[in-house]
Amino acid sequence: MGESRQPHLVVFTGAGISAESGIQTFRASDGLWADHPVEEVATPGAWRRDPARVLRFYDARRDQVRRARPNPAHKALAALETQGFRVSIITQNIDDLHERAGSRRVLHLHGEVLKARSTVDPRLRYPLPRGGIRLGDVCDKGSQLRPDVVWFGEAVPLFADACELAAEADLLLVVGTSLAVMPAASLLEYAPFDAPCVLVDPEAEALAPPGVTRLSQPAGKGVPALVRHWRREGRLWVPETLLE
Ligand code: APR
Repeated sequence: MGESRQPHLVVFTGAGISAESGIQTFRASDGLWADHPVEEVATPGAWRRDPARVLRFYDARRDQVRRARPNPAHKALAALETQGFRVSIITQNIDDLHERAGSRRVLHLHGEVLKARSTVDPRLRYPLPRGGIRLGDVCDKGSQLRPDVVWFGEAVPLFADACELAAEADLLLVVGTSLAVMPAASLLEYAPFDAPCVLVDPEAEALAPPGVTRLSQPAGKGVPALVRHWRREGRLWVPETLLE
């Protein structure tokens, strides 16, 4: 790490970082996919068959997001930016809690539920219409508006950008993800060989790939603890004492 260069923390977050804010994760036994089969609400086929149902599902996600507040994990990451660190966040989450905590560089790999996009052209993105997306709301090309989220079976347009960021990491911090979804989970492989990688997740022991340091704690505890060490020393490292 050069002296003149800001230490670059790249953070890769999943649903677990927002769990303590009251947003449901996906794959827990009481998670979202238990009550809402993926193929009925989060695929292009579901959208073709029953767009009203898909819109209702995302209306409910949006309500949950609006009621939620950033928790200490989101806030600690935002605070680090004000302390001479470069922090880039790559999130799989469609909520806006990183932004509301104050993080400035946030890449939404799987889109944003508070935005709308065209059905025929993913580049045509819009602020959410008042009252949410309704059947009959159309884009500039005349196609139905849909939530600006990436569904199963669709390409992940920002994946290459995310890989470029990961390749610049001095430390890759992974938080609250089961690493079950590709290509997102393969992001870890793009970090530089000598950059430490830490997973903060209550299930870290079971989930972390080889070579990844496991911090088996909820995000609201583990992330602020790491950030305190980094702020105190002005560098990114893995404090052994946290892992005991
Ligand atoms: N702190 C940190 N992690 C937590 C917490 C917490 N308080 N509570 C739960 N977790 C962890 C779980 O242990 C699990 O590993 O959060 C993870 C959530 O995993 P998933 O539900 O699979 O969510 P995620 O990995 O974000 O899913 C990836 O899959 O369904 C798609 O597009 C959706 O972006 C999503 C993608």
